[in-house]
Amino acid sequence: MGLRSPEIVADAKPGQFVMIRVGSGIEPLLRRPFSICGRQGNDVFLVLYRVVGKGTAIMAETEKGGRLSVLGPLGNGFELPKPGQTVVLVAGGIGVAPLFSLAQAVKEKDIQFMAGFGSSDEIIRMDPINDLNGINISFSTDDGTKGHAGLVTDLLDEYLKKNRDRSDSMSLFICGPLPMLKRVAAMALDHNISCHASLESAMACGLGACQGCAVRSSSQEKTEFYHVCKDGPVFPIGTIDWNSL
Ligand SMILES: Cc1cc2nc3c(=O)[nH]c(=O)nc-3n(C[C@H](O)[C@H](O)[C@H](O)COP(=O)(O)OP(=O)(O)OC[C@H]3O[C@@H](n4cnc5c(N)ncnc54)[C@H](O)[C@@H]3O)c2cc1C
Ligand code: FES
Repeated sequence: MGLRSPEIVADAKPGQFVMIRVGSGIEPLLRRPFSICGRQGNDVFLVLYRVVGKGTAIMAETEKGGRLSVLGPLGNGFELPKPGQTVVLVAGGIGVAPLFSLAQAVKEKDIQFMAGFGSSDEIIRMDPINDLNGINISFSTDDGTKGHAGLVTDLLDEYLKKNRDRSDSMSLFICGPLPMLKRVAAMALDHNISCHASLESAMACGLGACQGCAVRSSSQEKTEFYHVCKDGPVFPIGTIDWNSL
């Protein structure tokens, strides 16, 4: 969905999100969070979404030229990788959305984009990034109907084994379902690779006010929580207590 807002387009960084009020009635009352996945020109930003419940079903009925109330851009986006780094993007399902905008912003042209889906009919078209120079896209599907038969973490595992000598210059960025994030975070910690994860959480306000999106930090000294909406949604993996999620 393209939404016209020159202000949001001017301010948005890859990895940031917006809170959208999907309809004008009281149901659903709360805004829904969506990553900004790209832009068209200087005034339209794009969101890529999957219909999973009431809010997204209502949003899907929005007509061309309709109006939606949008708050954003919100949160902290991805820190762009340093020059000379190999950029490895790992997504599960709709987790491709924030990684599309990151891939478009990265200046380095050595990007590995690994995307995992349940089945071939769930694969999201890679149009926004297909034509980027130096990008190598690979797929996995759980049922083996396209690409590697198995998990996207298998693709990453194979890549890391083949490129052991380059792990110092690698930067990993990940977004997807929690089990996938946990697995990749563990792999990155094992290989000592820089890794940033975009987390999802239920969000009521998106502004740091309601505490609804708290996640526990990895701090050993004191119990500390981050708000996914305000401190994230992107976190260096070492800062999160993955066992508490
Ligand atoms: C920072 C952030 C960025 C996001 N970006 C995107 C995006 O780019 N595209 C996209 O499609 N979705 C994205 N989401 C998830 C999206 O916000 C939810 O899918 C949406 O709020 C569901 O609203 P609903 O009213 O349709 O579903 P609800 O009626 O609220 O829920 C229906 C079902 O979906 C499940 N669900 C609700 N929220 C989530 C969630 N966050 N993750 C997994 N399952 C959920 C519920 O548990 C329930 O089973 C993002 C979430 C966050 C926190
Ligand atoms: S959603 Fe309210 S504090 Fe994060």
